[in-house]
Amino acid sequence: MDAPPWRIHNPEGSLRIIVTKALPGRRWLECLARADCRIEICPGRTVLDTATIQQAIGRRCDGAIGQLTESWGAALFETLKAAGGTAYSNYAVGYNNVDLDAASRTGIPVGNTPGVLTEATAEMAVALTFAAARRLGEAERFMRAGRFSGWLPDLFLGTGLSGKTLGVIGAGRIGSAYACMMAVAHGMAVVYHDITPNPDLESAVAACDRFRACLHQSAVTCRRTESVEALLEIADCVSIHTVLDAATHHLIDGRRLALMKPDAILINTSRGAVVDEAALVDHCRRHPEFRAGLDVFENEPATAPGLAELDNVVIVPHIASATRWTRASMATLAALNVIGVLAGYPLWQGPDIRPFLENDPPRAIPSIVNAAALGWLNST
Ligand code: DGY
Repeated sequence: MDAPPWRIHNPEGSLRIIVTKALPGRRWLECLARADCRIEICPGRTVLDTATIQQAIGRRCDGAIGQLTESWGAALFETLKAAGGTAYSNYAVGYNNVDLDAASRTGIPVGNTPGVLTEATAEMAVALTFAAARRLGEAERFMRAGRFSGWLPDLFLGTGLSGKTLGVIGAGRIGSAYACMMAVAHGMAVVYHDITPNPDLESAVAACDRFRACLHQSAVTCRRTESVEALLEIADCVSIHTVLDAATHHLIDGRRLALMKPDAILINTSRGAVVDEAALVDHCRRHPEFRAGLDVFENEPATAPGLAELDNVVIVPHIASATRWTRASMATLAALNVIGVLAGYPLWQGPDIRPFLENDPPRAIPSIVNAAALGWLNST
């Protein structure tokens, strides 16, 4: 069956932009149309391969907005460049699907969408933490199967988290937001591992501690561990918030899983391949008291053999950022990345991305991840 035709918005626009999936909200489209863009949107829900995207780029294309499920490597950036394209934005904060060297070699800046996924992703990490700790997946399946025959003292006993130790790997925006949610509301002591110390997180938890003291609640603390190993050994719950790159691929492997407490909880809302998924399946099989909550998978959409059958694992389909506001805001930022590059605006230097979500966005490019490689940072 032939693929349905791409939808065209603002056909009279003089700059041609391709968008490989329909995006939530309207503002991104309005911004692009106002910037004199003709927007061509792929209507389908299947992942586009490189050849299909090359065909969509065609002979003339000024910019593109792509998905984290696509492989934006040399082939696509060279095709885009040959078509006169000068702007690309990923519709994601993560960009492990993009070959930044290849993009930089063609001189094409790569945009991403930071700052608008923080709370949504941290909230999903919280949701998975409690779903894993309190066995929500298992209990719901039990209920739906009509197996609930009355209250019992030992039905689905789980783990309480208040007063326990939370380990956060990667204390950037999302990791810090999650740590604060768990410290202030759930009284967890925080240990974190990151390449650099995060004094802001430490001060925020200290402020949480003062707040909790006013309510006569137990104290909370926050400190950095020198190694991932030290964190894994002491944490009752570990949540991963790193980027995926060569250094973090299989950061949590069989050896490190074995360092964790046998009844610990592992949460991953970052990228699947940070965890060796086959090793995790093996570990969960051998330690029924161990629990995991996963939003991301090593070979999405597939899951490792045996994972989906494990009762001690809660799995959801990469939806951590899936709130209407976040997904629409990501679309706005991706559009403004492309518009800003095409208009020759400077790179945004502000601490916070929110002004771009207001009615009259700054005349700047929100976020370019290969700005340094393009020599943009020295020139500003
Ligand atoms: C991202 O943006 O990197 C998330 O994984 C999807 O929103």
